[in-house]
Amino acid sequence: MIRYLSWVEIDKQALISNLKTFRRLIGPRRKLLIPIKANAYGHGLVEIAKIAAKNGADFFGVNSIQEANILRHNKITKPVLVMGYTLLKDLPLAVKLTVSLIVYNEQTIRALGRLNKPINIHVKLETGTNRQGIMPDKLLNFVKLIKKYPKIKLEGLYTHFANIEDTTNHTFAFKQLATFNQAVADLEKNNIHIPLKHTACSAAAILFPETYFDLVRPGISTYGLWSSKETRLSAGSLRRKINLKPVLAWKSVIAQIKEIKTGECVGYGCTEKTARNTKLAIIPVGYWDGYDRGLHHAQVIIHGQRARIFGRVCMNMMMVDVTDIKNIAIEDEVVLLGQQGRESITAEELADQINTINYELVTRINPTLPRIII
Ligand SMILES: Cc1ncc(COP(=O)(O)O)c(C=O)c1O
Repeated sequence: MIRYLSWVEIDKQALISNLKTFRRLIGPRRKLLIPIKANAYGHGLVEIAKIAAKNGADFFGVNSIQEANILRHNKITKPVLVMGYTLLKDLPLAVKLTVSLIVYNEQTIRALGRLNKPINIHVKLETGTNRQGIMPDKLLNFVKLIKKYPKIKLEGLYTHFANIEDTTNHTFAFKQLATFNQAVADLEKNNIHIPLKHTACSAAAILFPETYFDLVRPGISTYGLWSSKETRLSAGSLRRKINLKPVLAWKSVIAQIKEIKTGECVGYGCTEKTARNTKLAIIPVGYWDGYDRGLHHAQVIIHGQRARIFGRVCMNMMMVDVTDIKNIAIEDEVVLLGQQGRESITAEELADQINTINYELVTRINPTLPRIII
């Protein structure tokens, strides 16, 4: 029974299969951290956490303390790493929620020290992405500062690759890895041993076991999507047999069907005119829902057939040319992303049309739309 104007379906078995794929790659002893930031890449923060917690995830990665708070309120008790910045005022909340924090500022360490409560931290090392992270030449002093506070446990050291998924030439990634290895060696020379060292995102986890260390962090590929065409190509040339299963489908219904004559314009701005007598279906999904306004040349699937969007995508609606689809009725299912019959529309197909990546496409699906586990 249709219950919503538009909804996201989560294929639980596909998710479990992808989790198993990464467990097989990394072996039983390393930890599997599943990034569930950005509403689990659009798949539903709590929904994904609940399934993954029972199916091999050891750790969750979120961006903010607010996301961590939602997890704890939903009885997710697994370790959580907050991978984005935590405001100094929110550090007491981090302690209360027993989450691990990424750190790279001395101010954060001193503020945690003043709290004098047990907290786990992971130091982020800058190795060339030039985003968050402490410079390698500052690492030893930073760690010495941490060691002044006995309640702060240095649980992890990590870095993030800049372009491992953007290219089939991994020279830069290996340079970053060498910097990371050097930093680990320098710390060990000073008798500092860190339990969880980690570097691997999806592409690294699929391609290079030497990036695994003690924990891996595959995000996009846990959701069954490849990081890029280049990663897929590299996996092929390295003979990695990886079967990723897309987890998400996005669906809606037909709200109205109308016949209009040749030469009529459709939608805001009258950007398109019909070139024939046209049957239009009105679909109650628009850019507010996360269907990008730039997707005005995209297609949807109805009755297993592709149909193209006509005119502009509106805030909460779009119009689709269904002239060639037979026996169409209101409330028939419309697939915006996913499979119906023999047709399928992938996140990559839509992302290409608006010059972006599958990551952005799925993370921007409005979090208020229902996520339904199937
Ligand atoms: C620090 C960190 N680790 C892991 C990931 C996961 O990367 P991917 O989704 O490419 O696997 C991200 C994603 O942005 C990240 O920022």
